[in-house]
Amino acid sequence: MASPKKKLLLLAAAVCLALPALAEVDNKGFYMLRCAGCHGSEGQGSKHMSPSLAPALKGNPFIVKGSAAAIRSVVRQGRAGKRRLYDDTYPNMPGFGAEAVPDVDGLVAYLKGDLQK
Ligand code: HEC
Repeated sequence: MASPKKKLLLLAAAVCLALPALAEVDNKGFYMLRCAGCHGSEGQGSKHMSPSLAPALKGNPFIVKGSAAAIRSVVRQGRAGKRRLYDDTYPNMPGFGAEAVPDVDGLVAYLKGDLQK
């Protein structure tokens, strides 16, 4: 059996190994982490669920044809109050700052690119 001290060392080593992995989360990873809970892992939205959490992003004209700047602003500022576009069964969308989504341009490219495939 490993001593408690050894176990602690092993734990510290595991944490150190996990940290770089977190820094390497890619755009899809950030989508899965921050957005998929409401918008669905494939951007399908959750209209079919109850409670319904968010509109689909896949096949959504705002994503496909909208400007990157407009999408960026939704990600950063969210949608609440007068910014809301959809019915009230959805919750507000929270805004995501630089800590939650460091590479907003990369995420928007993912939404317009791979997510639409
Ligand atoms: C708590 C649930 C929730 C999370 C998490 C969430 N959203 Fe949303 N999102 C919403 C809701 C609800 C709306 C629609 C709000 C409205 O306009 O009524 C929305 C709207 C949007 C829109 C505009 C769609 C349109 O048709 O106008 C975009 C783009 C978007 N979200 C992207 C994202 C991205 C990218 C993330 C992750 C960084 C994310 N959302 C995380 C709930 C969420």
